[in-house]
Amino acid sequence: MHPVRIAPSLLAADFGKLRDEVESVEQAGCDWLHLDVMDGHFVPNLTFGPFIVAAVKKHATKPLDTHLMITDPWKYADPFLDAGSDLLTFHIEVEEKGDVGALLKHIRSRGKKAGLSVQPDTPISRLKPYIQDLDLVLIMSVFAGFGGQKFMTSVLPKAQELRALGFDGEISMDGGITPATIADSAAAGTNVFVAGTAVFGVDDRKARISELRQLAENAQDTSASDTESSSI
Ligand code: DX5
Ligand code: ZN
Repeated sequence: MHPVRIAPSLLAADFGKLRDEVESVEQAGCDWLHLDVMDGHFVPNLTFGPFIVAAVKKHATKPLDTHLMITDPWKYADPFLDAGSDLLTFHIEVEEKGDVGALLKHIRSRGKKAGLSVQPDTPISRLKPYIQDLDLVLIMSVFAGFGGQKFMTSVLPKAQELRALGFDGEISMDGGITPATIADSAAAGTNVFVAGTAVFGVDDRKARISELRQLAENAQDTSASDTESSSI
């Protein structure tokens, strides 16, 4: 079983005090920091570039999980790796614009973890040619672009579809993760949980991260024992 990892999305942080926000969620017990990069083309929203990732890196001790929602990851992968990203994920929907396998291999050749993400309406089968080159798959449970959207339960079967393709890495779910949705996501087979609003939107972030972790671990245990008993 893959360990539960809680990855607060800095998209929901107060950028006027970014260093404090990073330290706050690290002290609250997060596992990774999730950084949402948007280019105004792949998604209608714009966020930040490598400069901010480098600023976060200066104060972070946890791995930086950078999520590129951009049309040209081939052009920008190196600047984001240079800035300190430990995991670098881009979207399969840009597949026709370049060599996806080559970019995944390049990220790994730099000693970093490589990921691909799928929008809610993109089938998991699109990832099949790249399974061997992937450390992480990021399943979008909202359409990429904005924080604070409602979790789409229709994406839940995707984690099992991925395992059926032989993928053994980290499966992350991103969008609308809250105490009300995390258990379903964990029971469905995901182990990394990106949460923006649910973590940064509360005062007691430590209690919130512990709550999310506990709910996810309980759901993992329950689904594991269900699988055992059904295979007897
Ligand atoms: C959406 C981003 C998410 C988002 C999550 O495009 O990829 O990481 O910030 O935010 P919440 O948890 O508020 O849905
Ligand atoms: Zn994200």
